[in-house]
Amino acid sequence: MTTSQALRDALADRLKASGDLDDPAWERAARDVPREVFVPDGFMRVLPGTHPTLYKPVTPACEGWLEGVYDDATLITQLDGHLRAVDVAAPTGGDPTSSSTLPSLVLRMWQQLGVRSGQRVLEIGTGTGYSTALGCHRLGDANVTSVEVDRGNAERAAAALKHLGYAPTLLVGDGLDATVIDGDYDALIATCAVRHVPYGWLDQVGDGGTVLVTLGGWMGAYGLVKLTVTGRGHATGRFLPGTTSFMMARPHSRPPRPPLVLLPGQATTAEWPPVQLDDWTGRWVAQLAAPSAERLGGGEVQVLSDVATGSLAYFGVDGEGRTQVTQRGPIPLWDRVEDALSEWDTAGAPHQSGFGMTITPEAQTVWIGDERGPSWRLPV
Ligand SMILES: C[S@@+](CC[C@H](N)C(=O)[O-])C[C@H]1O[C@@H](n2cnc3c(N)ncnc32)[C@H](O)[C@@H]1O
Repeated sequence: MTTSQALRDALADRLKASGDLDDPAWERAARDVPREVFVPDGFMRVLPGTHPTLYKPVTPACEGWLEGVYDDATLITQLDGHLRAVDVAAPTGGDPTSSSTLPSLVLRMWQQLGVRSGQRVLEIGTGTGYSTALGCHRLGDANVTSVEVDRGNAERAAAALKHLGYAPTLLVGDGLDATVIDGDYDALIATCAVRHVPYGWLDQVGDGGTVLVTLGGWMGAYGLVKLTVTGRGHATGRFLPGTTSFMMARPHSRPPRPPLVLLPGQATTAEWPPVQLDDWTGRWVAQLAAPSAERLGGGEVQVLSDVATGSLAYFGVDGEGRTQVTQRGPIPLWDRVEDALSEWDTAGAPHQSGFGMTITPEAQTVWIGDERGPSWRLPV
């Protein structure tokens, strides 16, 4: 049987070859920290595309378990805020609420944060503790603080970290709440996504500090932004290359909604096809334009449903084969999305890395190109 060390080395070699791991200090961490200690059990997606998605419970007793832990893949460890693999015997549905993020992303983000020895970091979303352990290996226990909202996850992560001899400061509570995370840090790294940046984060890292966070939303679009704090309540930065996505921070998750009913509305011919929202950045632009809308379905069969106002947009085809959009409610969701898609297209349809963000005490704005480019306000 291949040993854990051999699998870790093989993973580190693959990440080096793919360009995801080029800092020697983080490479040492990747080779030294055993991921299996942080993932005693988990869920694997049942493929192909079940609807709703089903997850199969997996434990170390399953064949190929250790090899699976060293795939460069996210390992889901909790569904619906409470369910673990050891609680179920058969495939089950549910929303993933905790995981060990894929190692290439964890290591890429630690490197992108750009922290040096001696700098203090606050991590939001301890999860399994694997990324926290990497941080401790590189920066030392005294320089790492991590916060986890879920007590059970936090306790399991604390035990795994202790087992390996790591002793970061671990907090249990809402990492979006400034009173929970109060401290003195040089940088903040978030392994859950937010709809806007909590102002408390800017205060915690202070002037010149760095915040690395994924901005997400209810259409399932994401962008990883690296911000520099430029004053009290002020920050600016650019979105980074790649396709980063994370589960939403619990206070920013979509609130429960009643079953969706497609009531009649005003039908017009759509200028942009709804499949544009299957595109990684197209969906991001749509989410900026309609930030409280949820997206259900995909392709030609999709619905935008505004959580704040109940406004709807859904699609069909008229007798001449043209895509029809039906809109209902106070916000003309698809008109807003089409305007934003047109502005993005005129700007050359860049990936998220062509976007940036400015935070002031009054507003949080995402723009294309520079601050004079097309821009959208985040829901704060
Ligand atoms: C993707 S997982 C974290 C991955 C983790 N860093 C690892 O390597 O295992 C996201 C975690 O963020 C936690 N979380 C969600 N909202 C949070 C919040 N408001 N404050 C702190 N943690 C939160 C979730 O419970 C979950 O464990």
